[in-house]
Amino acid sequence: MQIEDCVALVTGANRGLGRAFARVLVERGAKRVYAGARDPEGVRDPDVVPVRLDITRPDQVAAAAERCSDVTLLVNNAANVRVGSYLGPDAMEIARDVMETNYLGTLAMCRAFAPVLARGGGGALVNMLSIISFFNRPDMGPFSVTKAALWSMTNGLRIELRAQGTLVVAVHSGFIDTEAAAGFPGAKHDPADVAGRVFDAVEAGREEVLMDERTRAAKAALPRDLELIYPEIEAQYRAARG
Ligand SMILES: NC(=O)c1ccc[n+]([C@@H]2O[C@H](COP(=O)([O-])OP(=O)(O)OC[C@H]3O[C@@H](n4cnc5c(N)ncnc54)[C@H](OP(=O)(O)O)[C@@H]3O)[C@@H](O)[C@H]2O)c1
Repeated sequence: MQIEDCVALVTGANRGLGRAFARVLVERGAKRVYAGARDPEGVRDPDVVPVRLDITRPDQVAAAAERCSDVTLLVNNAANVRVGSYLGPDAMEIARDVMETNYLGTLAMCRAFAPVLARGGGGALVNMLSIISFFNRPDMGPFSVTKAALWSMTNGLRIELRAQGTLVVAVHSGFIDTEAAAGFPGAKHDPADVAGRVFDAVEAGREEVLMDERTRAAKAALPRDLELIYPEIEAQYRAARG
C-alpha cells in the first residue's frame, strides 16, 4: 500500500518514536493521521488529529476503533518501557504491568482494528518490536518477554489477517534515540529515519524490518543462541552491574 493518501493511527504518538511516526506520515502525504495518546493534550503536532487512547483501556480502544473507522494503516508503537529484573521485589507487578500494555494492549488494538482495516480493503498493520524480541537480558527480563510474546503473536496474526488482505509488518530495532533509551550508552537510530524505513517496508509489502546489523545478527544467531548470543548478553549484564 502507499503512504500517500492513507489514513493512519499511531499509538503512543505524543512523544518518542510515535511522534516521529506521525510526523513522517504527514510529510509523506497521508490523508489523515490520528495520534493516539493517553493524554491527547500532549500531542503538539498541528497536522495530526489527537485521540485519547490508553491501549490497556477496553473502552478507549473500542471508542478509537469507532471514531477512527477510516483507518487503513495501524501503527502499534506504544509500549510500557519499564525495566526490572526477575528477582527484584516488584518483579511480579512489573511483569504483569508490561504484559498488560505491550502484549495484551497491542493485541486488543489489533482485534479492534482488524474489521476497520478489512472494510478499507486490507491495509497494513505495523507492530513495533525490538532486538530484544530475540533474547532476554535479566535486568530488562520481564520487558523482553513482552516483545517475544508480541513477536510470536505478530507471526500468527499475519496468517490470520492475510485472508482479508492486511499486510502485517514486524519491526525489530536496536536502540532508538528517545526517552526510553536515554539511560543506555552507544549509538542510537534517529527516530525519523526508523519511521521512514518502516513506511518504505509498508510500501514495498515487506513483512519484517530488521533495522540494523546487530538486530540482523541476533535473529540469524537464534539457532545457536546459547553459544552466539547469551555469552555477550551475560557479559553486558555483568558489566552494567559493576
Ligand atoms: N527507544 C528504543 O531504543 C527502542 C528500541 C527498539 C524498539 N523500541 C520500541 O519502539 C516503540 C516506541 O518506543 P519509544 O522509545 O518511543 O518509547 P517511549 O519514549 O518510552 O514512549 C512510549 C510511548 O508509549 C506510550 N504508552 C505507554 N503506555 C501506554 C498505554 N497504556 N497506552 C497508550 N500509550 C502508551 C507513552 O505514552 P505516555 O507519554 O503517556 O507515557 C509514549 O507515548 C516501543 O514499542 C518500543 O518498545 C524502542
